[in-house]
Parts: sequence; structure tokens; C-alpha cells
Amino acid sequence: MRCGRGGGPGGRGSVQAAALGQLAIDLLLVAFDSSGQFALTYGGGFLVEFTATCFRQDTGFFTGTLETSQGDVEGLVFFNANRRHGYDYLTRIEVKCFESRAFYPRGGGNAKSAGRHFRPRGSPSVLFCQQILTSGLRGVIVLGIETSCDETGLALYDSERGLLADALHSQVALHADYGGVVPELASRDHVQKALPLLRQVLDEAGIAATDIGGVAWTAGPGLVGALLVGAALGRSLAYAWDIPGVGVHHMEGHLLAPMLEPESPTFPFVALLVSGGHTQLIEVAGVGHYRLLGESVDDAAGEAFDKTAKLLGLGYPGGPAVAKLAERGHPGRFVFPRPMVNRPGLDFSFSGLKTYTMNTLREEETRCTSEAEREQLAADIALAFETAVVETLAIKCRRALDETGQTRLVVAGGVSANRRLRARLEEEVARLGATVHYPRPEFCTDNGAMIAYAGCQRLLAGAREPLAFNARPRWALDSLTPPGDVASGE
Ligand code: KG4
Ligand code: ZN
Repeated sequence: MRCGRGGGPGGRGSVQAAALGQLAIDLLLVAFDSSGQFALTYGGGFLVEFTATCFRQDTGFFTGTLETSQGDVEGLVFFNANRRHGYDYLTRIEVKCFESRAFYPRGGGNAKSAGRHFRPRGSPSVLFCQQILTSGLRGVIVLGIETSCDETGLALYDSERGLLADALHSQVALHADYGGVVPELASRDHVQKALPLLRQVLDEAGIAATDIGGVAWTAGPGLVGALLVGAALGRSLAYAWDIPGVGVHHMEGHLLAPMLEPESPTFPFVALLVSGGHTQLIEVAGVGHYRLLGESVDDAAGEAFDKTAKLLGLGYPGGPAVAKLAERGHPGRFVFPRPMVNRPGLDFSFSGLKTYTMNTLREEETRCTSEAEREQLAADIALAFETAVVETLAIKCRRALDETGQTRLVVAGGVSANRRLRARLEEEVARLGATVHYPRPEFCTDNGAMIAYAGCQRLLAGAREPLAFNARPRWALDSLTPPGDVASGE
């Protein structure tokens, strides 16, 4: 649905206000009519609670708070009690009415008829709403914008229908000559690509911009200039379209990306986040409930792949190139150390492995007498390196599952596209009677879909951001708070 905030009389706001006043009535009717839902409204001394049998013990929860309200309608609070929630509380959906007059029932005391006869008195309420999660209603469509590094990703996610469209522009060719991402070039390219990609996703989804009900952008961590492009665009679009906007943590996007798959994992689970900038094991109880179990004390796994690729004379990004070369490697010629596996705990370290790789290459290179031998050496080293990283990650994942007692493992971030890692983790979880979940390969690396999804979860739960926005190049994932708890977090 379209959510909006009204402006003064005569402007676009008043047109929107009229539409939203009607919308408020429709929403009430739907809420009252659908089974398994709970709806409550109050104002003008009128307080109604509508409950369905499955709502059970929480029915009286808000009554005390809301009874104190006198006069005009101040808000409509809708709950959806029958959705698949990962967190231990109900998703709260708030519809706040500003400048409201009142909704008075024309019907009697009967709940259903009261709902049917609700009519606004005076000018219609102007709503600022996040989303109504009521079955039978069209869900909110969230635009996701990812620009944290070298990929411009835009996507449209519908809370009811799932992913509608996804478009990506990779800057690999732009940075290839430099052997890594050049921040200034990255930012400029995001500026050029973002709007054409927006048009592309709108076309692909077959919707108009006015159908979008929320905007989510990557607020960090990442390259500050690149982040600012997405944040400025996202914030501006949300402002111009008069809809809520939210800045999303890039790693939360990665972490929730497997939720876009048909066989999505349920909470709780252990997540292994392996990207170019992060290697982390997180215990995830729900959206925003993150406990850091361990992380890399130096290089991230993806970074180690990228540096090894450079060492071996391969292009950027290094991960896929090393993995491809490793396919031609002879297993067993070299066995590289598995860093930190003999120490307790769940931290990682990959910089020593990089040095070991470099020393092995230097030493062995001198013995090569032909180009073919040199090529084989590079392939054998690539394989030994990849195996060492994969084994280390697998050992730590097993340990994390053991220590937490969790039976689901989620693997996300660029390195989760690695085939050897996937095969090894599948073997490991099968032994443990656990399951492993990944995003589809194109959503392992950076993309707009994961930001649209994560942003949608937060917007549905009431997250909203002021007009001032910020890019956060450094931002700890475990500092996030659950959605609905926005006042205390982020
Ligand atoms: O998540 P991502 O796209 O960007 C960051 O948030 O960092 O991850 C990029 C990283 C790069 O370091 C890249 O080399 C690595 O993921 N990567 C891979 C593979 N595909 C991408 N590493 C190993 N094997 C792959 N197949
Ligand atoms: Zn990423």
C-alpha cells in the first residue's frame, strides 16, 4: 500500500490526505473482517478492541496505555498475529494520525458493525504509516538501494509478493586496471548508474513510482563516498515521494539475503558472514538480535582471496579468479596451515595465511623451469590456499553450532558464492544433523534485493528515519537493535 504524510491544504498533501482518510477506513474494515487479526483504535473516549481467538494472552496489553488518550483519534494500531515471526514479540504496525479529527462509530457496540460504520468526521486524518500487515491487503513495496562499494544495486521487494525486480551494475571493469576499488571512481559511477537502474526495476516490476511505499538504502559500513550516493538518493526519493525511508546495515542485508529464497531458514540460526570486509560468526535470534560469536582479527576471508589473487597475478575481484584457478590444482601438493583452529574460540585470522602463500610462491617459483610449471604452481597454490580458508571456516562453523546448540547455519556475503566452501559446509552440517542455507549465487555478493528485504522488515516494524541522514563507514552489526526498538538503537 501507499503510505504518506500529508502537507498543507491545497497541495499534494491534501489530495493524499483525502485518499488516506479513505484508506484508514478501508484498513479498519479489512482488519476487522480478517480472521486471526487484532485491531484497536481509540479516540474521543471511544475505545474498541477487536480480537480473534488466536491472539490469546496479549489482548489487553495496550489497553492501559491507550485508555489515557482523550479527544481526537491519535492513532490506529494494527497487529498481525498470525504471520511467521522470527522474533519473540509481535510485529507492531503503527498508523499515526496527525491533524486528525476523529473516527466515530455510527453502528452500535457490536465490533464488526462498528468497524463497518466507521466514518471520519471533519477532514480526513492525515496518516503517516509504516505498513499494514493485514492479510488481504496489498503489501508495501520497498525500493532497496545498495552502493556501499563497487556495485550499484537497486531492487523492489513487495512484503506480500516477494522480490519484484532486481538490477545490478558491477564496476569490476572500471576498477580492473587498478587492481582494486578506487573509491572516487566508485562514487561517481554510482551517481551515474543509480537512476537508470531505478527506471529499469520499475519497468521490470511493471509498477509506477507511486506504488512504492518505502525506501531502504545501505547506510554502512562501506566506502563513505559510495554510501553517501545511495543514502542521498534514498533519502531524497523517500522525501519526494512522501514515504518512510530507512538506512540499512550492509551486513544485515547479507545476513537476511537467504530469506529471499523459497527454502528460507527460520530463526534462530548461526550466520557465517564472509565478504570482502568481514568474516564474522553471529548468533541470530531474529531481525536485529545479533550476538557476535567471533570475527577475523585481521584480514577478512574475501580480502585474503583478493590479496592472494594479486600475488598470483590474477585479476580483481580475486575470489572467483582464485577459485577458478584452483580447479586445475593438484590436491595434496601443498597443505597450508588452518589459522587459529587449534585455539579455543571462534575468531579468525587470515593475514598469516597470506604471508605463508607468498613465501611458498617465492620459494617454489625459483624451481620452475617452464611457463607450464609456473602455471601449475599457481594453480596448486590457489587450491592449497582455498582449501585452507574453506577448512578453517568449516571448523569454526562446526564449533559455533556446537557451542550455541543451533541446528541451522546461514552463510552469506561474497565468499559464500565459493563452491568448495558450499560443498564442505554441506558435508559438515550433514554430519551434525543440521542444515545450511545460502542466498542464490547472485545475492551472495552485493545487491539491492538484500537491502530492500532488510529495509522492508525494519519499515514494517515501524523503523523510520528523520530527514537528516548519515553514512557510517564503520558500523558494528551487533550494535543494531531489533526493529520496533528503533528509539534505542541505530
Ligand atoms: O559481499 P561482497 O560482494 O562485498 C563486500 O561486502 O565486501 O564480497 C566481495 C568479496 C570479494 O573479496 C570477493 O573476492 C569475494 O567476495 N568472492 C569470493 C567469491 N566470489 C566473491 N571469494 C571466494 N570465492 C568466490 N567464488
Ligand atoms: Zn557485501
